Order: sequence, then structure tokens, then C-alpha cells
Amino acid sequence: MSAKKIIIANWKMNPQTADEALRFVQGVLAQRLPKNIELIIAPPFVYLELLKKNCGKEIKLAAQNISWAERGAYTGEISGLMLKNLGCNHVIIGHSERRYIMGETEEIINLKLKTALRIGLTVILAVGEKEQNDDISKVLSRQIESALEGVGVSEINRLIIAYEPVWAIGTGLADTSDHALSAALLIRKIISRLYGPEWASDMPVLYGGSVSEENAADFIAQNGIDGALVGGASLELQSFIKIIKAAEKNE
Ligand code: 13P
Repeated sequence: MSAKKIIIANWKMNPQTADEALRFVQGVLAQRLPKNIELIIAPPFVYLELLKKNCGKEIKLAAQNISWAERGAYTGEISGLMLKNLGCNHVIIGHSERRYIMGETEEIINLKLKTALRIGLTVILAVGEKEQNDDISKVLSRQIESALEGVGVSEINRLIIAYEPVWAIGTGLADTSDHALSAALLIRKIISRLYGPEWASDMPVLYGGSVSEENAADFIAQNGIDGALVGGASLELQSFIKIIKAAEKNE
């Protein structure tokens, strides 16, 4: 488990102007931010540079995507080297919106993850079942094993796994904290099988899916869940601040 609770804002394809993005981080930075929390914002690519200049050391940045190629003739792609050079050290890979809307296969996710780790980025790997009655053990094993195929134990310390059941994303129907905890334990079991028990306990595992100011504390308080990956509620300043404060109570 991580020493700090980790709160990640996934802004997805929002907001529509750089001004709004800037005002949001200024609003967050105006708060007294808890020391014992790692705060990461994943804005659209076009705002990364602006936010880098304005986030100071308190907020880290994540990209929402990365090319599996490092450089070359790949129209429309963004390379991990560019992200690294910009001072962006995290990237989300395997988000369900990229898997199921943008058609990313497990093979592509594996390529992207290996490229990101090779470049020195920290990967936030999102996994989770589509339907509530899916066989979660089977789904998580398949997604994690395929994503980590060919990844050596020396690179695994730059991996965060986010359990995000697809049925809970953007629906207002969050998972229960007990079920999310059992999914997090399942994820640790899979990592233990692949890399050994010490990695399984050290690896940060987050919950995402309709996290709100009302339910954030329930997830974050669980011993075994290291924080939250927040979508919709990370676009509303007051809600996001309340989520950060909920994590502070767990210090
Ligand atoms: P919501 O918090 O809007 O459900 O989105 C979760 C998510 O997809 C974060 O990556």
C-alpha cells in the first residue's frame, strides 16, 4: 500500500477552455492541501503545459493517453517522451472509455504500458468489469495479466492500478466500499501471483466510478484502497476540494 492516499482527477474531454482549467487549479491551490496526500490531475493534452507552469509541486500531472510508439510518423499521436519532457510523469492506460469507445485492445494496452514504463513514466492502469454480474475474478486476471505481459519486476514500482467497474462510471451508481475493497484485494492477489507478495502489498490500488463528495471517505478509509480516481466530481471545484479533505481525514 502507498504511504500516502492518492487522489487523481480524470478530467476526460473537459473543460472547453484553458481559462477554466487554470481557474480550477488556482482554486485547488488556494486551499491548504494536506501533506499526506498525492494529488494528480489528468487534463486533456492541450492544457498540460499550462498546468505544469501553474501547479507548483503540490499537484502532479497525468496524461490521459500515450502512443505506443516513441517517435516518428504517427499522425495525431502524442509520445511519452514529449510528456516526460514537459514534466508530466504519470499516464492513464486502459481506461474503459479507451477500451470500449476508442477500441483499444489488450494488445495495444500492453504496448502502451511497456512504452510508458520504458520511458520512465508511472502508469495508472485502469481495470474493471463491464456488468455487475460479470465474473470479476476472471475479468481482472485477464486484464492485468495481458496488460503486464513482458513487464519485469524491476519496473513494477511505477504502477498504480485503478479498479473502475464500468457499470459505475458516470452512472451515479458507485460500488459499495466493501465490494471495492474485495476487488482491490483480488487485484493484490493477482499481482502477488505474478510478482510476489511484497509487490502485492506495496502497490497502490485505487477505486474509481461515481466517486463523490458524499461517498469518497468510505472508499478512501478502507485499508487496502489507496485512494480514488475521480471523473465527474473532479470537474466541480467545491466537490473536488471536499474529496481531497475526505482523504485528509484518513491521514
Ligand atoms: P466518474 O467519476 O464520472 O464516474 O468517472 C470515473 C472515471 O472514469 C475516472 O477515470
